[in-house]
Amino acid sequence: MKQNLWINGENVEAENYRPLFNPYTGGQIAEVADATSAEVIRAIDSAAEAAGQMAEMNAYNRADILRRVADYIAEDREECAKLIVEESSKPLKAARAEVDRTIMTYTFAAEEARRIQGETIPMDAAPGGEGRIAYTVKEPLGVIAAITPFNFPMNLVAHKVGPAIAAGNTVVLKPASQTPLSAFKIASYFHKAGLPAGALNVVAGSGKSVGDVLITDDRVKKVTFTGSPEVGTYIREKAGLKRVTLELGANSALIVDEGTDLSKAMPRIVTGAFSNQGQVCISIQRIYVHENIAEEFVSQFVKEAGRLKVGDPMEEETDVAAMISAGDVQRALSWIHDAVGQGAELVLGGESEQQVLKPTVLLNAKPTDKISCEEVFAPVVHINTYKDFDDAITQVNESQFGLQAGVYTNDLQKAFRAAKNLHVGGVMINDIPTFRVDHMPYGGVKQSGTGREGVKYAVEEMTELKLVSFKLD
Ligand code: SIN
Repeated sequence: MKQNLWINGENVEAENYRPLFNPYTGGQIAEVADATSAEVIRAIDSAAEAAGQMAEMNAYNRADILRRVADYIAEDREECAKLIVEESSKPLKAARAEVDRTIMTYTFAAEEARRIQGETIPMDAAPGGEGRIAYTVKEPLGVIAAITPFNFPMNLVAHKVGPAIAAGNTVVLKPASQTPLSAFKIASYFHKAGLPAGALNVVAGSGKSVGDVLITDDRVKKVTFTGSPEVGTYIREKAGLKRVTLELGANSALIVDEGTDLSKAMPRIVTGAFSNQGQVCISIQRIYVHENIAEEFVSQFVKEAGRLKVGDPMEEETDVAAMISAGDVQRALSWIHDAVGQGAELVLGGESEQQVLKPTVLLNAKPTDKISCEEVFAPVVHINTYKDFDDAITQVNESQFGLQAGVYTNDLQKAFRAAKNLHVGGVMINDIPTFRVDHMPYGGVKQSGTGREGVKYAVEEMTELKLVSFKLD
């Protein structure tokens, strides 16, 4: 299969192509366009050209297009899930769940398109403001550059393209070089749904060249990016006065207090740690367990994690499959070995086969071990114990990241203390940090990024507030 660029509502032959491989089988899936700078500029031209038409489009038309996209995805649910499996090695059941979430995200975007509204401003609240009627309107920004990661190749595209179209913007989308096919598929649904040519363009590319053109072109009014803190910082430095939303990494933590019903919590905790091979920004990486239940917790956790089915992502029962690249497996293994060298105890996993890193559990890693203080983005978890709940909060906060945190406790006072004192974008009481539904605000503090997604919140960041004031005499 040959995948061209998608520019101005058409498949466009590219100058260069590169092979795309299935991370689990190693087999070639496609030849994918590798956009040059000139091709990216052509995509921006077409998005800039379509910006006027999109800004004029009625809200109900934008809503209808998004609703139809959701319907087309629902009709092709299994095909979409298998595409995600093929290019990302996400296990099939998780891929199906991602497709369902993608449908939900476009459905929320369709609803949100109808709700974009300003407010009236009581101008006479200040001396000198009397005799005026004023209101605000929210206008589209124009061209938005969306740069998306490999770990949710459909739903994280939806979180950028959905709100952008809902708000009447146009988009140039650069999908992750490992998972471009899902993005092209989404573009074909938008085309079928009647989105004007040029309102969504997809430029796949492997190098920095695509991103650099997008973040420096003056016609691009906003860059929305999900990926690593390094790239996020680079974008922020180069984007000048453009709006920037950055959803970056984390080493998300979970506190498990004494009194927690482990039999109920454990399946969720194991899922939160190993789902999609831990390649989720809010995957559980650090667990802090009260010392009174630590022995029982570790024994149950290791037993449950050891039961996960590891192997072919296309098989119905598989829980953990290949990581996105061999380099990432090697990086995670070296961090595991370093931590063991520093005194951590390896109680499960720590080995790989066919780009699959087995679910790995360590005890008592040091806060300075990379496995603890960096984002591991792999099926690797470490468990430490605490005596004092507030110390556990301090340990969670001793991180360069702050995306989401989870706390299991039956003590209401502790729950409120955690909610107040955890320095993160979202606190999940009696749940895992990995919890997300697609309409809630989602984003982090510190190195985890700036801005919020979750359709309504992304729409806010993709519109410009304009004040209109009428002087009455
Ligand atoms: C992410 O990895 O940032 C997205 C997590 C999710 O949407 O569940």
